[in-house]
Amino acid sequence: MLNGNIVLIGFMGSGKSSVGSCLSKILNMKYISTDDIIEEREKMKIRKIFKEKGEKYFREKEKEVISEVSNFDGCVIATGGGIVLNWDNVENLRKNGTLFFLKTKGNVIYERIKGDKQRPLLSVDDPISAIRRILKARLPLYKEAADWTIDTSSLSISEVADRVIKKIKGGKK
Ligand code: S3P
Repeated sequence: MLNGNIVLIGFMGSGKSSVGSCLSKILNMKYISTDDIIEEREKMKIRKIFKEKGEKYFREKEKEVISEVSNFDGCVIATGGGIVLNWDNVENLRKNGTLFFLKTKGNVIYERIKGDKQRPLLSVDDPISAIRRILKARLPLYKEAADWTIDTSSLSISEVADRVIKKIKGGKK
């Protein structure tokens, strides 16, 4: 078990949840997903929260949850893809966490998420354009927020987990 949290950031479909649960098993750390906490609290799927309460409401709940989990220790935290839109989230997570940006190419993201109706921002007529547009806007934010960036496009879940472990054991940047 390591001190501090391992925090996974990145675009939808970049593997934050899969890599996060893999890491938690290998490192014997607790796995936390901020999206799951929001859904449990709201008793509603994220898609429905967006539809019925709006994105602004979701972002407020997300900020509350990030602020709470940032005080935890020894957890692997998978975050929602939009946390970098509010820099308070990044600053909170940094207090006790090492942030890993799981960088993934747009076409790989599309292949991974196509047919998945759970992501409101990509449930649009032209998801490829939406991915490109949102990715372009967020890429600098993910890079700026991250302690480490791992290009996951051609890696398996366990390969990404191995890289995270190597970096974390080598010390904070
Ligand atoms: C979002 C990503 C989603 C979820 C919500 C908004 C985003 O999480 O938080 O749909 O703005 O990128 P994942 O990154 O886990 O899909």
